[in-house]
Amino acid sequence: MGSRIIGTGRAVPPVSFSNQDLERQLDTSDEWIRSRTGISSRYLMRTGESLLDIATEASRHALDKAGIKAGELDAIIAGTVSSEYAFPSFACQVQRTLGVTSIPAFDVAAACSGFVFALSVADNSMRAGVWKKVLVIGADALSTMVDWGDRRTAVLFGDGAGAAVMVSEPGPRGVLETLLRSAGEAWDLLSLRATGVRASADSEWRRDVADTLKMRGPELFKIAVKSMADITRQVVERAGFTLADVRVVIPHQANIRILNAVADRLGLPYDKVFVNLERYGNTSAASVPIALDEALEAGRFGDNDLVLLNACGGGLTWGASLLRW
Ligand code: ACO
Repeated sequence: MGSRIIGTGRAVPPVSFSNQDLERQLDTSDEWIRSRTGISSRYLMRTGESLLDIATEASRHALDKAGIKAGELDAIIAGTVSSEYAFPSFACQVQRTLGVTSIPAFDVAAACSGFVFALSVADNSMRAGVWKKVLVIGADALSTMVDWGDRRTAVLFGDGAGAAVMVSEPGPRGVLETLLRSAGEAWDLLSLRATGVRASADSEWRRDVADTLKMRGPELFKIAVKSMADITRQVVERAGFTLADVRVVIPHQANIRILNAVADRLGLPYDKVFVNLERYGNTSAASVPIALDEALEAGRFGDNDLVLLNACGGGLTWGASLLRW
């Protein structure tokens, strides 16, 4: 028995902020942001908007496309580090908004790798025969937790949610192989001490600077490239394939320079790598499922194609999953 994604969905806050919009509140420029990151705009949550609403919308899209009612689910797993509450978990909150009861719902905290980690938890449980239908969510709103006075980090992130409905299924399609890694000793390359007060770009409130996202960008850059490239190669080899067999790589959308460097290291043509970060920025755990949903919609892959997901984020955490669609 294995597991297969049969429906995907995505949702973002209503308003997109361009680099020019950020120029008005930060000492930065469109040219700097685009040349260093590839990002042109991102959707940012404004005061009063709710990540829970966005994740619920993404989940409903995924359920609709899967042709499954929320009441049929056996579990809900959310990859997120942006829940407004320490508890109930974000997944429990989505469970409530979807009107489901009794089934297990819990979060997986792996920062930008959250969706890949959550997908693996769902896949393993389904292989073991524990669940048959699982909703996996990746949702984050890191823009509400950055220091809006720090141009080195504030320009990088966007907010949103993506979701996937997985079903257990025998046969050759679905999740073929997943590898997950963490390196706690590198925790301080990317960290966020506390959640609590949300401070959107438009908010009058500001978080204490000590409680905002901290990043050692240049060091993180190097480790992200190496770890994403290594785990990609390993997961493909372990599944008995080569990179040439893979139809499309759907990476965590951190930064175009990271994605290009990973592709260079792997000898992958850039057109095999799906990129949408110019419109979303880095949406953390939401980036892989949002990109998966868009790539599918754009016809970048179809039935029986090999699709590779990979991610790296705070923890550090990183992982990759090879799927036969
Ligand atoms: N606008 C204008 N200037 C800026 C900005 C900005 N937004 N940010 C930094 N600068 C300036 C700095 O102040 C510095 O100027 P100085 O030399 O006068 O002090 C100069 O640009 C270079 O700063 P660096 O931080 O060295 O810039 P770098 O070229 O390393 O690029 C970046 C920074 C884009 C963050 C890069 O380090 C990077 O991509 N790191 C990876 C981090 C990342 O993507 N994190 C996302 C989360 S991790 C993940 O998802 C995998």
